[in-house]
Amino acid sequence: MRISGKRVIVTGASSGIGRALAVSLAGRGAVLTIAARRYDKLDEVSREIAAQFPDTPAPVAVRCDVTIAGDVSTLIGGAVERLGSVDMLINNAGISVYGETRLTRPEDFRRVMSVNFFGAVQCMLEVLPFMRRQDSGLIVNIASVAGLHGIPFLGAYSASKAALIATSQSLRTELADTGIRIMIVYPGYTDTEIFEREIMVGGGKRPPARYAPVNEVAEAIVHAIERGRRDLIMTRRGKLLSVLRGAAPAVVERVMRKMASELRDPDEPRRDPGES
Ligand SMILES: NC(=O)c1ccc[n+]([C@@H]2O[C@H](COP(=O)([O-])OP(=O)(O)OC[C@H]3O[C@@H](n4cnc5c(N)ncnc54)[C@H](OP(=O)(O)O)[C@@H]3O)[C@@H](O)[C@H]2O)c1
Repeated sequence: MRISGKRVIVTGASSGIGRALAVSLAGRGAVLTIAARRYDKLDEVSREIAAQFPDTPAPVAVRCDVTIAGDVSTLIGGAVERLGSVDMLINNAGISVYGETRLTRPEDFRRVMSVNFFGAVQCMLEVLPFMRRQDSGLIVNIASVAGLHGIPFLGAYSASKAALIATSQSLRTELADTGIRIMIVYPGYTDTEIFEREIMVGGGKRPPARYAPVNEVAEAIVHAIERGRRDLIMTRRGKLLSVLRGAAPAVVERVMRKMASELRDPDEPRRDPGES
């Protein structure tokens, strides 16, 4: 796919992978609408892009909480009104919950599902009528390696990403005879704000992991879009997991059990940035 001139909406573009994706796509001439709740951060991204790429239209920043249906309608309806339609939607907005699943409250499950799953679904349902009308479009869903299998201490987060993957796969087959494509991205650990802002329910500590630089992750995603990839599994471990979960489930379970016992930490308290 040639990105230049494409009308692209990126959710969760105020930081991390979404912000880096916006910069990378703008560098290739995309006409961007960027969305998130923190308007000041979005505005900063828009100004940065305008200064860096003066030949590309500055991104339009839209304050949007993807868990609010009215916000999503305004985001997508506004982009269509301004630009005529939408060529690409990148569902990137996401939050994380970490810790023992038995300590995860029903409201923690609901919070992560409402952003990572229902938020993405809401955006897809809003954009699909426009894409169907023009019989073309690309929806890129940012899932996670953690959606390939339930990961210890990520019970709620893994569930939200597994749900997003399943719905993306259903849609992909239903839309196979149309010009609309669905791409699923499975990033591994990436150096972003998500870990500072996540809900820690307690009982487990984060593993010492290698965090990929966010610009590398965004570049890999944009390359995959250009090459028309259907799925992008981003780490060696992720690729191994996607093969072994079917071929050798007992091995995967042994590795996960070892990980759970190494990361279990009863002294790890509950911390919720949203509660403070
Ligand atoms: N970092 C990793 O290791 C990793 C690994 C695999 C997958 N991912 C996925 O990558 C995506 C981006 O995450 P990130 O790591 O870049 O984290 P991040 O820096 O925290 O970015 C998350 C983005 O989502 C937005 N967001 C959160 N809740 C929202 C809501 N209700 N409505 C609209 N926007 C919302 C945030 O903006 P506001 O707060 O301004 O709304 C922010 O722009 C997520 O889907 C995440 O699950 C990340």
